Amino acid sequence: MSDLQKRRAGEAAALRVEAGMIVGLGTGSTAAWFVKALAARNLPNLRCVPTSEATADLARELGLPLVTLEDVSRIDLTVDGADEIGPGLALIKGGGAALLREKLVWEASSTCLVIADAAKVVPHLGAFPLPIEVVAFGYKTTGARISDVLTDHDVAFPGRFRVADRGMVRTDGGNVIYDAKCGVIHDPARLADDLKLVTGVVEHGLFLDLADEAIIGTDAGVETRLP
Ligand code: 5RP
Repeated sequence: MSDLQKRRAGEAAALRVEAGMIVGLGTGSTAAWFVKALAARNLPNLRCVPTSEATADLARELGLPLVTLEDVSRIDLTVDGADEIGPGLALIKGGGAALLREKLVWEASSTCLVIADAAKVVPHLGAFPLPIEVVAFGYKTTGARISDVLTDHDVAFPGRFRVADRGMVRTDGGNVIYDAKCGVIHDPARLADDLKLVTGVVEHGLFLDLADEAIIGTDAGVETRLP
C-alpha cells in the first residue's frame, strides 16, 4: 500500500512541472516514481539535475536530459522524498545516503516539493535515525564527537556508522554515514547548528525551512500540506 501512496505522490508532483523548467530530481523510491512520471510527460526543453548517481542512471535510462548543478545558476523546482515529515515540514532525509547532494540541490531551488507516503508524517522528528554524513578520514573520532553532541541533546541511544553487505556504506562523494538514533529531537534547529560545528561532519539530514509544500500519497489519493 505504501508503494501505491508513493506512486500517487510522485505522479501528482510530476504534474507541477512545466516545459522549459530546470528540475531537481530527488533520490529514493518515492522520487523514482516522480522521475518515471516526469519522463512519461515528455515535456520539451527540460533540464534535470539529479541528486545521486542512482537517480542519474534512472533518468538517463528514461531519456530525461541531465545537467549538473555546476551547469545552472538556479533550479526552478526540486521534487524529493523524505524519511520523516514533522511539524512545519521539518524533515529528516538521507535514508538513501544522498543527503549532501540533496541539500545542495534543494538550497539552489526556488521551490522544493517533498513527496511521501502517509506513514512519513510524524508528530515530532527523531524516530527515524538521523543520517549524518562524515568524512571517512578519522571517522571514529568524529563519531565520538557527534556522540557528545547527541548526549548534550538528551539522546541516550548509541548511534552507529551505516554498514551494508560489502562493508561501510559510502556516499556518492566517498563519505560515510553515521545514523543517530535520537528517539525524539526536541530542538531540531539547535541540533542542526551543533552538528555543523563538528569537524569532519559534512552535512546532516535535518532539512529545516526548506520544503515549500508536501504532497502526501494516501489510500484515497493525495493530500497537500504547507509549512
Ligand atoms: C535519500 C532520501 C530519500 O528521499 C528518503 O530516504 C526517502 O526514501 P523513500 O522514498 O525510498 O522512502 O533522503 O537520501
